[in-house]
Amino acid sequence: MKVYALLLLLLFFLFFTSIFGDLGLKLAKCQRKIVKISNAKCGDSNQCSNVVFLQLGMCQFNKPNEDSKFIWPNLPTKLKKHVVKRLDYVSRCRLRKCSTSDQELVDSCPMHWNGIYVSLTQASLHIRFSKVVTMEYFRKNNDRIEIKFIEGQSFCKKTREVVDSKLNHYNVGIADFLLMLKNQSTTCQEINFQNLESIDTEDQYRFIQSLLFHLSSMNSSWKIHSKKLYTSLVTTSSQLLDILSFFCPNTLKCITMKEYSFNAIETKALVNTGHWRNAECLDLQHENNISIAEFLHSKTFWTVVPKLEPSDAWAVIENYREKDGRPRGSTFYIRSISPLEIQNILNEYDVPVDNMPVESPWRKDSVLHTQKFPIAGSELVLVVMLMKFEITGKLCLLSNIEEDCYNYYTADPDLD
Ligand SMILES: *[C@@H]1O[C@H](CO)[C@@H](O)[C@H](O)[C@H]1NC(C)=O
Ligand SMILES: *[C@@H]1O[C@H](CO)[C@@H](O)[C@H](O)[C@H]1NC(C)=O
Ligand SMILES: *[C@@H]1O[C@H](CO)[C@@H](O)[C@H](O)[C@H]1NC(C)=O
Repeated sequence: MKVYALLLLLLFFLFFTSIFGDLGLKLAKCQRKIVKISNAKCGDSNQCSNVVFLQLGMCQFNKPNEDSKFIWPNLPTKLKKHVVKRLDYVSRCRLRKCSTSDQELVDSCPMHWNGIYVSLTQASLHIRFSKVVTMEYFRKNNDRIEIKFIEGQSFCKKTREVVDSKLNHYNVGIADFLLMLKNQSTTCQEINFQNLESIDTEDQYRFIQSLLFHLSSMNSSWKIHSKKLYTSLVTTSSQLLDILSFFCPNTLKCITMKEYSFNAIETKALVNTGHWRNAECLDLQHENNISIAEFLHSKTFWTVVPKLEPSDAWAVIENYREKDGRPRGSTFYIRSISPLEIQNILNEYDVPVDNMPVESPWRKDSVLHTQKFPIAGSELVLVVMLMKFEITGKLCLLSNIEEDCYNYYTADPDLD
């Protein structure tokens, strides 16, 4: 398989070096040619060919001779798709602007994103993806939005494109964001909406409103295929439910939410979504009235309740103690606004109460009681810790309790 891939790559390379040879192109010092976004249809074949060529060689080539045949449009589609799949995001965007057929070509090549992080700062909208590229959309003044690309691993560190537009910079950024997800075969590990610094609540609302507006203008069957959703922007709960509805419920596995308040009706709506029902990981970081029973289908959950009943605490322990239940590392964490009734919880235990502290990321003096619940016929043990306001439990490997308890304390189980 590997040999085959290498061979393919070699052929590919030879093919293109021969094209470059034919055109008499010379490798020049790296100096990225910038196609302005405002040149939506560049129509200049030299410019378009440069866009493609420089991506293959990662450096700019000298301009083809005036009389050289423009070769890109004549390549077979299959080969062009090979090229597009190797292009980085910015190059795809540029190629997309060359012609309608290039636009269709780019859109027909799905992407696989590690993560797309959409963040608000006071002056800009930030989109970072695959830990490499950041696009930053600045509101400069009333008639100019500046977009900055910062590419971590490219030869060319920074490029800059300016959009002359009356559009809101949120709209421009969101349109690009959705373009990244447009093809329904495109998948993503994680989508993250957050603010990087303290932002006006009004701005956060405005952003979410723009986002929802753009989402609703997508094809009605269109969904975002992301495994995780993280949102910490201030929104109304109905907006959160709306955003959720644009995610494919069968793909979404992890939901993390901060900054929300659900009333009783919205709470019911939330727990009845396919997204909630299918989630393997639920992470609610603010006080809510969602009953503990609504979390028990997930592998891992975090929540904050007004008051934790001892019977609920025990119900969770029993649920996590089920044989052939959850995998190693599965965790629950419940914070209660009013203090836990520690003694009443211990009274629920169906095994002798036995405090056996283990090393954990929690402060030693804050952990009031630690009990290990062995799981019959399994190599796992459920370690349950009681604190003044929190109860947390985790499935650790019996032979590796100390390390598991310490290392894998995260609301992020292995999803694969
Ligand atoms: C998305 O990608 C698939 C697979 O390459 C392709 O068949 C399909 O036409 C693309 N969809 C769009 C809307 O271009
Ligand atoms: C929406 O998507 C469906 C299925 O992919 C397709 O048949 C339909 O033409 C699309 N509609 C629009 C308006 O793009
Ligand atoms: C939970 O429900 C109680 C009683 O209905 C209500 O007073 C309280 O505000 C709710 N708390 C939250 C965080 O929704």
